[in-house]
Amino acid sequence: MTTISAPGKVHLIGEHSVVYGKPAIIAAVGLRCHVDAEKSDNVIIESADFGNAEYGLEEIFEIEKKVADLWKKGNSTNNFSALFEYVKTDKTMPLLISAGVALKKAGSKGGIKLKIKSEIPIGSGMGSSSAIAVTISKAAAEIYGREFSKEEINSTAFEIEKINHGNPSGGDNSACCYGGFIWFQKKQPKNIITPFMANAPEIFDKFLLLNVGRPVKTTGELVQAVRDLPEGFRIPRLLTLEKLTHEMKEALGKKDTNGVKDAINDAQQMLSELGVSTDKIDKIASDVRNLGGAAKLCGAGGGGTVLCFHENSEELKKLLKKTGFAYWDAELGAEGVRIERL
Ligand code: PMV
Repeated sequence: MTTISAPGKVHLIGEHSVVYGKPAIIAAVGLRCHVDAEKSDNVIIESADFGNAEYGLEEIFEIEKKVADLWKKGNSTNNFSALFEYVKTDKTMPLLISAGVALKKAGSKGGIKLKIKSEIPIGSGMGSSSAIAVTISKAAAEIYGREFSKEEINSTAFEIEKINHGNPSGGDNSACCYGGFIWFQKKQPKNIITPFMANAPEIFDKFLLLNVGRPVKTTGELVQAVRDLPEGFRIPRLLTLEKLTHEMKEALGKKDTNGVKDAINDAQQMLSELGVSTDKIDKIASDVRNLGGAAKLCGAGGGGTVLCFHENSEELKKLLKKTGFAYWDAELGAEGVRIERL
């Protein structure tokens, strides 16, 4: 049996605007997804979060073809609702699709048994689906003897993510695959994925993550909601997020903690104006800011994870404790996909 793991991720800045080709800074985090994988005739899924399932290989490739067709239709009409509805028909579907795409890419003639255990909260802006996509892509390649590079694993994971989310930027899977910190920009013909800050400033030891609960809406739905905003309202805010991302990069380079905090707080304001925050997150962000720190939602928003920072971690922890939600050390810059056991 082979065990593979990949980390979750958080956007330090640039979620949503990254969908429109603006840059984002994304960090891998300490929580990981683990997959035990072995060869099997069929495709067998075991997951506490998604349930169990067993399908024949032919059936899995049929599902893979069906969702690929639905994706093409969604892409040509800019409306992925038929795809999302189909994916929702079975709780295990995201894992079946991941297995189908990964096995096809690995050119396998056989199935796979996958036991998935993830520490990453689902649908909470921490790349839970990307970490699964990356681990399953790597697992299928490993057990069928394909020596895929990280770039190839990432491209398989991106195919899976497209079926899960419609037209994602590709930033999430890249952070989960490469790990560390990345500067990411969606570009044709090739995305820019630049490892960033080999030596992360010490302030990164002081970032905490708080989970306010799973959002009702999916990433795809929240991305669509931003797309549906009038252009005259949406574009200036995306441009501000782009400017803030560059400002954060500069502040990080100069180890300018106040500059980093301002970029985070201003990004939260923009995301809130774009309608992807919640009253609860806005309140927590404002309390952290009033304490002299910085906080913003992570990923698609609508709930989920809040990235929080304060030079005085103990003061910040006191404040977060009062919210009643779970919080923990972010462990930003964690290692990317790796083999735990061969
Ligand atoms: O909520 P998550 O972890 O799926 O992150 C989504 C990030 C977005 O920028 C909103 C979408 C994307 O594809 O980059």
